[in-house]
Amino acid sequence: MTDDGTDDDREALDLLLRGFQVSRMLRLVADLRLADKLPKDGSRNVSDLATDCSVLAVPLLRVLRALAAFGVFRVGADGSVAHSPRSVLLRTDEPNSLYYGAKFWTAPGSWNAWCFLDAALAGGNPHQAAWKTGRFQYLREHPDEARSFDAFMANFPDRRHQALAASFDFSGAKLIADIGGGNGEALRQILARFPGPRGLVFDREDVVAAIPPEARSDGRIDIEGGSFFDHIPPGADIYLLMRVLHDWPDDDCIRILRNCRAAMTRSARLLIVEQILEPDPAVGRPSSYLVDMQMMAMFGSARERTEAEFRALLHPAGFALDRTIETASPVWVMEAIPV
Ligand SMILES: C[S@@+](CC[C@H](N)C(=O)[O-])C[C@H]1O[C@@H](n2cnc3c(N)ncnc32)[C@H](O)[C@@H]1O
Repeated sequence: MTDDGTDDDREALDLLLRGFQVSRMLRLVADLRLADKLPKDGSRNVSDLATDCSVLAVPLLRVLRALAAFGVFRVGADGSVAHSPRSVLLRTDEPNSLYYGAKFWTAPGSWNAWCFLDAALAGGNPHQAAWKTGRFQYLREHPDEARSFDAFMANFPDRRHQALAASFDFSGAKLIADIGGGNGEALRQILARFPGPRGLVFDREDVVAAIPPEARSDGRIDIEGGSFFDHIPPGADIYLLMRVLHDWPDDDCIRILRNCRAAMTRSARLLIVEQILEPDPAVGRPSSYLVDMQMMAMFGSARERTEAEFRALLHPAGFALDRTIETASPVWVMEAIPV
């Protein structure tokens, strides 16, 4: 032990350094859908599980033991495997399942971009450096990863879609347009609470085409494909931009906001739903700064923002920030009005 750090600090830092190993093992068990193959109560023998997953029992046992050391699964000396409270969260039938995160974080698109993180320090875009193409073009070319991304967005651990539906009164709206709305989870949550409004998901063509009819709230959700840099559909009373602006640098955000403004009447409202970055990391949640870093890895200069930084985007696009509403999730609702 030295004055600079305790043995506990040394061990904690050592585990942080090796976090990628844990992420990779979690993806491996997610690829096998192993959590779904285990009963919620009770256990199965590792050989039986291995047969079910078409893999070898001995390496599978080693992986599960390592995860169990982090509280993910329980592994007995007799080779029995059972769920722990953490591993249950990897089941696909869990609300806000972390299965989709386990599939997403180490998928090649994101993982390889992180290998080029240093490109951002020279003003570059790590994803571009890794793949020679931008993030959304990459997703267009890799449909499996794109649908995994959409599912991950809908199941993100911040539970932002439920939190938005619970924090804002949508009862007076006739049409809510979710711009960059992904697979429609925010609208499904809102329409489940408010029987009056209809919804419109506007997103890239391949994203909206993948939303099945049964996910459209009994026909109350329409879809439209396109780019928010070209055009945003008019006619809604409420426009949502949830976790969209954080994907873009300031000048692109202002273009998106101007297109929203052009689509909106004076009485329409724009809800920007984003995390508001706490400048002091001693106060903020660690996961918020990791989202900021993910934006850096995927897009270079895209980022999480403080409230003042959001205000600065709104003004040149013809909006004023009317109020900021806290939610049960790390995201806030910033209600902007046309000026
Ligand atoms: C971080 S995701 C957020 C998804 C959803 N709003 C949510 O919070 O779950 C950003 C979304 O922006 C969409 N997007 C990216 N570029 C777009 C464009 N040019 N026009 C429309 N949507 C776009 C992506 O396809 C993706 O669904």
